[in-house]
Amino acid sequence: MFFLLLTVFVVIAIWYFFIKPLSYWKLRHVHHSKTPWYIFGDSWRTFQLLNGKSAYLGIYDFSVPTLCITDPEIIKKIMVKDFDSFVDHSIASIDPEIDPVWGSTLLTSTGKHWKTLRTVLSPFFTSSKLKEMFNLVLEQSQNFVKVISEREGEMDIREIISRFTNDVIASTAFGANVNSLKEPNNEFYKKGLHFTNFQTMSILVRLLLLRFFPALSKKMGLSVIDNETSVFFDTVIKDTIKERQERGFKRLDMINTFLEVLQEQQNNPEKFLKPVTELDLLANALIFYFGGFESVASTLSFGMYELALNKDIQENLRREIQEVTAKHSTITLDVVQSMTYMDMVVSEILRKWPPFLSTDRRLTKPYTLETNDKSNPLIHLGYENRIFVPIYGLHHDPDYFPNPEKFDPERFSESNKASINAYTYMPFGIGPRSCIGLRFALMEVKALLFNVLLNFEIELAPRTHVPAKIQTSLFQYSMEGGIWLKFNRLK
Ligand code: HEM
Repeated sequence: MFFLLLTVFVVIAIWYFFIKPLSYWKLRHVHHSKTPWYIFGDSWRTFQLLNGKSAYLGIYDFSVPTLCITDPEIIKKIMVKDFDSFVDHSIASIDPEIDPVWGSTLLTSTGKHWKTLRTVLSPFFTSSKLKEMFNLVLEQSQNFVKVISEREGEMDIREIISRFTNDVIASTAFGANVNSLKEPNNEFYKKGLHFTNFQTMSILVRLLLLRFFPALSKKMGLSVIDNETSVFFDTVIKDTIKERQERGFKRLDMINTFLEVLQEQQNNPEKFLKPVTELDLLANALIFYFGGFESVASTLSFGMYELALNKDIQENLRREIQEVTAKHSTITLDVVQSMTYMDMVVSEILRKWPPFLSTDRRLTKPYTLETNDKSNPLIHLGYENRIFVPIYGLHHDPDYFPNPEKFDPERFSESNKASINAYTYMPFGIGPRSCIGLRFALMEVKALLFNVLLNFEIELAPRTHVPAKIQTSLFQYSMEGGIWLKFNRLK
């Protein structure tokens, strides 16, 4: 009898939690995907949820009813015009009460906490700060060129570039001089790889528990970033601050900006909605690492892949770099930013290979979406819903980008770019919640391409897949078998 009751209970629980929710969109007559998986839903099939010819599609993030939007007008409403109803991110957001470090980052914080952090962190990325940090980035890219020069034959570029992006963030966000390009077992790099690797079973289970069972997770003391990793990076920051205070030493990086913020807070506390603490510095140095490590590495490695495949484009870009080098005795950020062809190439890399396949929003106020759909003119969205924006799908939709698989920087030429709808191109997201590191990332990508093309011709090694074969993970994707390239030194 007991077993019969238990079986009935389990069957009802499965039906209630995992099967019943999957009819949410059907019951509301919203155009929806046909075959979500039980428990997992279908938002993970980002590559397949591409350019459906509907303005929106009801899908499921696990069993959470999520509206995938593909119409530029609706995207504009949600991400810009009616932003107040969609302030927060969904997947990664966790209450700081539950996980103080992960919950205090700009990416994961919500409401007022997010607004305060965004105001405090924006000065890290002003033009004058970027100009100051440009030399640190340039130094790292020259280091990259040196390391490549010393190696021979073909190499899997993704790993080497990720060492470059590691060293850039270590230098600019943590104020640490790290040379993982030279030292294969560098501790900072190893810890960074560990913490940005969201593919292990342990992190997946922790994320699920934290997201769906927050109270239980708190009791269990779970956190997204394990304690050893947090302590390691915290120590790096504290040591740096101590050294600077003791030696009165200044370096133009994010730690320096943060020390200025703390000073400003001491002088004018009324300017701060919420006190800023050292925990905020740790959390956000970590999120800068998380946001800027894989994304920039992915952009640069797929970018070099395309330049190796399209030799004429590589040549054109090199010509622009050589012209600029002949004209200016020192290369500054202004010089790099003035390069129009470089900008066209990088824009096209980010169009064809956006590092983040999608972004998301959570409802912060109930919202009624007006649609052009006669059969369903109003969709009422509540706190239970999520919004999903398929960045990769938009960038590969032939209606918005004809012949989308062609790598063609001319799409972004002065005369052509006016025809691109701004709400269909968004490698960095859009609106007040878009990527805070956009200009920093562009600076890094351009600085490395500049130095590499000035010194080498990039060639594709035969083992690299053409056309590209892609493998996906939770947040990102990469080339199956790696991107193998040869760097031929220019005379
Ligand atoms: C090519 C490189 C990069 C790409 C393509 C990229 C893309 C993105 C995207 C799509 C979002 C979500 C935006 C939205 O939902 O509207 C985002 C958010 C964010 N990114 Fe980036 N990112 C890059 C580099 C960086 C770098 C270098 C940093 C830090 C130095 C960074 C820090 C962040 C942070 C903190 C957020 C959260 C912003 C917020 O919620 O207010 N990213 N990024």
